[in-house]
Amino acid sequence: MSEPDNTGFVATYRRLLGYLWPLRGTVGFALLGMALDAACGSAFLYFIKEIIDAIFTDHDPFWTFWMPFIVIILFVTRGIGGYLSDYGMARVARSVVHRMRNEVFGRYLQLPSSYFGSETSGQMVSRLTFTVEQVSGACTDSLKTVVLHSLNVVGYTVVMFYQSARLTGALFVLAPLIALIVRTVGRRYRRIGPRIQQSMGEVTGTIHEVVNGQREVKIFGGQEAERQRFAAVTEENRRLNLKVSSTNAMATAAVQIIAACSIAVVIFVATRPGIINHTSAGEFMSVITSMMVMLTSLKNLTTVQSNMNRGIVAAQDLFRLIDTPGECDEGTRSLQHSRGEIDFRGVSFRYAGQHADALDGVDLHCAPGTVTALVGRSGSGKSSLVGLVPRFYEPTAGEIRLDGEPLGDYRLVDLRAQIAWVGQNVVLFNDTIARNIAYGALGGASREAIEAAARAANAMEFIERLPQGLDSPVGEDGAQLSGGQRQRIAIARAILKNAPILILDEATSALDTESERLIQDALNRLMKQRTVLVIAHRLSTIEHADQIAVLEGGRVVERGTHAELIACHGKYAALHRLQFHEPAAATVQGTAS
Ligand SMILES: Nc1ncnc2c1ncn2[C@@H]1O[C@H](COP(=O)(O)OP(=O)(O)OP(=O)(O)O)[C@@H](O)[C@H]1O
Ligand SMILES: [Mg+2]
Repeated sequence: MSEPDNTGFVATYRRLLGYLWPLRGTVGFALLGMALDAACGSAFLYFIKEIIDAIFTDHDPFWTFWMPFIVIILFVTRGIGGYLSDYGMARVARSVVHRMRNEVFGRYLQLPSSYFGSETSGQMVSRLTFTVEQVSGACTDSLKTVVLHSLNVVGYTVVMFYQSARLTGALFVLAPLIALIVRTVGRRYRRIGPRIQQSMGEVTGTIHEVVNGQREVKIFGGQEAERQRFAAVTEENRRLNLKVSSTNAMATAAVQIIAACSIAVVIFVATRPGIINHTSAGEFMSVITSMMVMLTSLKNLTTVQSNMNRGIVAAQDLFRLIDTPGECDEGTRSLQHSRGEIDFRGVSFRYAGQHADALDGVDLHCAPGTVTALVGRSGSGKSSLVGLVPRFYEPTAGEIRLDGEPLGDYRLVDLRAQIAWVGQNVVLFNDTIARNIAYGALGGASREAIEAAARAANAMEFIERLPQGLDSPVGEDGAQLSGGQRQRIAIARAILKNAPILILDEATSALDTESERLIQDALNRLMKQRTVLVIAHRLSTIEHADQIAVLEGGRVVERGTHAELIACHGKYAALHRLQFHEPAAATVQGTAS
C-alpha cells in the first residue's frame, strides 16, 4: 500500500456526508441530543464547585434545597439527549448501509463481464457484507463520538476557564502533544485499513471455494492444503487487526500519561503561594474533575480515529466500485424484432490480461433464419465468438453487424432481447422450476406457456414426477437436479423466450442419446424460424446445419455445409471420421464435457 492520500480522504468524507443529507432531519435531532448530553455533563461539573463551596463550606440553604432537583433535571435531560443521539445515529447508520449496499449491488448488475474476471467473488461478497458495515461505523458511531466528545471537551474547557483561568492555562501544554498522537494514529490506520479489507475478502473467498468445491476437496484430499490456506489468510487478518489494537492501546496510554502530567501541573500551580489563597476547594475540585472526565473524551477522540479511518477506507473502496463505469450502452437504435442477420467482419478478440488472441480475424456471415454450427477443438474460441453477440465482451478489432448495423448502435436491452441463450455452464437460480424457466423479463409468462416450453424441452417427463411439479424448488444453482435435467430447464427457458436469435453452446452435452434425440426434434423445430449459432462437439447433432465453421486457434479454417466439408477432406472430415469410426468414444467424450 502506498502512502495514504489525505486529499482523497477529505473528498471521501465529504461524499459520505452527502449520504447524510437526505436524513438531515434525523441528523439534526441526533446533534441536538448530543448538545444536550454535553451541556448537561459540563453543567454538572460546574455545579461541583457549588456543592463543595456553597453546600459543604458555607451551608447555603438555597443550594442545599435545590441541588438534588438540579441533579435530577440534569440527568433526565441528559438521558433524553442520549436517547435522541443514540437512536438518531442508529437510524442514520442503517439507512446509509441500506443505501450503499443497494447502490453497490446495483452496480454489480451493470458491470461488464470483464470486471468479473478481475476480482474474486469473495472480494465482491465481502464488500457487501463486511465493507459496507465498516462505513456505517464511520458515519455514525464515529461521527457521534467525534461530535459528542468534541462538544464535551469544549464544554469542560469553558467550565474550567470560568472557574479558574490560571489553573486551566496548564491544559494548553498538552494540546499540541495530543494533536501529534492523533495524527500518527490516523496515518498508521490508513496504511493498515485497506489491507484489512483485502484480507477479509480473501477469507470470504477461501470459504466460498471450499463450500462450492467440497466434493473435490474430499476426493482429492485437499483438506490439509485448504486448512493451511485458510489459516494463512485468517492469520494475516488477525495480525492486521492486532496492529490496529496495539496502535489504539498505545495512543490511549500516551494520552493518559500526558493528561496525568497536566493534572500534576494543575496541582502544582494551584498550591503555589499567591494562587492557593485565591482558589477555593470547590473551584479546584471542579477543574480537576473536569480534567479527569476530559481525559475520557480525549481518549475516545484518539481511538475513534481507527474506526473513522476504517470507514473512510471502506467508503473509498465502495465509491471506487460505484464509480466503475457500467457496460458501454451508447447505442440509441431501438430494435423490436431483428431479422437475425449476423455478420462477423474481421473480428479479433483478446481477453484482458491475456497474451494471445482468443479470436483472430473471424469473418462469418449468418443469413437470417439459418443455422450456423461452430466446431473445433476445445479452446479454439467457439464460446468466445458467440459471447461477442450479446456484447458480453467487445471485439478488439473488426466489427459485428446485426441486420446490417453495428451491434454497438443498438440499445443494449433491445439487442439482448433478441437473443435466447443456453450456455455451456447452465446457471439456475435458487427458486422454483417454473420461475427458472420464466426468468427475468419472461416473468409474465402464463402457466400454459411455461408448461409448453418445458414439454418442448422434454423436461416435463421428470418435472411431473417431482412432488411439487413445476413449483418444485431447484436448490442453489439447481443442486437438486441432475446435469441433464438442468440443461433441459435451460433449454425450456430459451424456448420460452422465443427470440429471433438462438445461441446454443453445448446445449445438449449432458444428455443421453435418447433424450438428446427427443430434444433435438424440439430444437430443430425451434431453429426453423430463427438464426441459430450452435456449438457442438457431437457432430451428429449439427449435420443438417446450413453452414459449419471450423475454428482453430481463433480462426475460421474451414466453412461449408456438411457435404461440402466432407468432400474436401479437410479438418472437419478428419474430425467426422474420428467420431464415425469411434462412435462409443465420441459419445463418452460428448457426455462428459
Ligand atoms: N474469461 C476468460 N478470460 C481469459 N481467457 C479466457 C476466458 N475465457 C476463455 N479464455 C481463453 O480463450 C480461449 C478460447 O476459449 P473458448 O472458451 O472460446 O474456447 P471454446 O472453443 O469454447 O472451448 P470449449 O470447447 O472447451 O468450450 C482459450 O484459450 C481460453 O483459455
Ligand atoms: Mg466453450
